[in-house]
Amino acid sequence: MSAITPPTTRLWWKQPLDRVEGMWIAIAFAWCLVMFFMMPYWHVFGKQNLANEAYRTTPELHTQKTQAMIDKYKVREETDLKIPVVHPPPGSDVYLIARLWQWWPMLELERGKTYRLHLASMDWLHGFSLQPENINIEVHPNYEHVVTVTPTKAMTYSIVCNEYCGINHHTMASRLYVVEPAK
Ligand code: CUA
Repeated sequence: MSAITPPTTRLWWKQPLDRVEGMWIAIAFAWCLVMFFMMPYWHVFGKQNLANEAYRTTPELHTQKTQAMIDKYKVREETDLKIPVVHPPPGSDVYLIARLWQWWPMLELERGKTYRLHLASMDWLHGFSLQPENINIEVHPNYEHVVTVTPTKAMTYSIVCNEYCGINHHTMASRLYVVEPAK
């Protein structure tokens, strides 16, 4: 039998399962189950599978809320693109836009304070990856993922996109500032 000519015996697919083949199927299946149950396990015992909420939204609505926050709480601009850096009050709802190929705006949060972070995409799938914490959240259009966050360290974090989103995917990086709480 070759890939071009039809098989000589028509019922070639009815041959009994080879022992080695069966063993590999069993190993692969068992490993799938291990990986499947690791998800809830890491949610309970790990630090990366967050409890997040998702709600329907639209790019327009999310932009509106983000812009309102920027207008109120912008403290400066950074980089040649004049990306606004926003310092919203502790305890508030904070918004982040993912789009080709940018995170908008940059957030400046206070250590030890809790925020509700709303993430949504303006176009298609992006991945919010907070480094070096290695927190990953998928960012979809028309849905907002809401995560309750309490930063524990005052430092500059990197945000990178970890879902391939096109030609400039690799440039879709930003910062998240965590500063000491204002006195
Ligand atoms: Cu956005 Cu990759």
